[in-house]
Amino acid sequence: LALLSAQAQAQTYPSRNITMIVPFAAGGPTDVIARIVTGHMAQTLGQAIIIENVVGAGGTTATTRAARAANDGYTLITGHMGTHAASVPLYPKLAYHPEKDFEPVGLLAGTPILILARKDFPPKDLKEFIAYVKANESKVNAAHAGIGSVSHVSCELLNSVLGVKPIGVPFNGTGPAMNALVAGQVDYMCDQIVNAVPQINGGTIKAYAVATPERNPSLPDVPTTTEAGLPAFQAQAWNAIFAPKGTPPDVVAKLNAAVVKALEDDAVRKRLLELGSVIPAPADRTPAALGTLVKNEVAKWTPVLKPVN
Ligand code: MLT
Repeated sequence: LALLSAQAQAQTYPSRNITMIVPFAAGGPTDVIARIVTGHMAQTLGQAIIIENVVGAGGTTATTRAARAANDGYTLITGHMGTHAASVPLYPKLAYHPEKDFEPVGLLAGTPILILARKDFPPKDLKEFIAYVKANESKVNAAHAGIGSVSHVSCELLNSVLGVKPIGVPFNGTGPAMNALVAGQVDYMCDQIVNAVPQINGGTIKAYAVATPERNPSLPDVPTTTEAGLPAFQAQAWNAIFAPKGTPPDVVAKLNAAVVKALEDDAVRKRLLELGSVIPAPADRTPAALGTLVKNEVAKWTPVLKPVN
């Protein structure tokens, strides 16, 4: 009977609005990517997808809520490298496990990391930035989106490469952190590219380098960390949709098909590429591929990151 009702549910799914939890503030990279892709998914599925920004604790508050939501396909989360990998070693009391408590639905985008600074931060290139931060480490501060967020973990990596411990300034997302950077209230930030391209092109912040092997087509003038003299700092994050564990496979398949269709749409692709994100290759768009990515990322970050409590 349970099986029959799950099948019947999958056939009619979705018959009402879907809630998409975004674990950071509006206007940040996860929110922007979720809105671009779910806007198209809603057309495919014939139901609205309502974004709900639930902030706090580096995205883990929202991710806990999503893990505990009904597994009927009507509550989903757009998580990322932080919420669904780095949080595991950082939060020993984490109330969910990314592998055990979620069904992977689909990868949305890869997001290269940039080293950014307020417009009037004195160093003019990455070499000067390294020297300046080393000389002033007790005075400079780095904005991030909470312990375990991508911006936090990426700058931890950068700071460990440089051997510095600047002051961290947490925000509820890099949307508000970017506003503070633009306003000159914080010194620097390691952020996903999506948030930064419009600001860099508008001249309201500066970018020292992109931490990927190749330059990004959306920012052709920004050197790679290798070109700029810091090859040891390489970082790219990712954002992806997850459903609570036990969501029926047919529902997951419908959602994944809608993700894939969105990633094939010219307007969606154009928007994602304009913002510097990397569209997953077809083989990386399946739920199984996302499950493997999460497993590998948890294994990658676990020996690198130390618990915070
Ligand atoms: C956001 O959307 O604010 C970011 O993904 C936060 C982060 O992880 O740095």
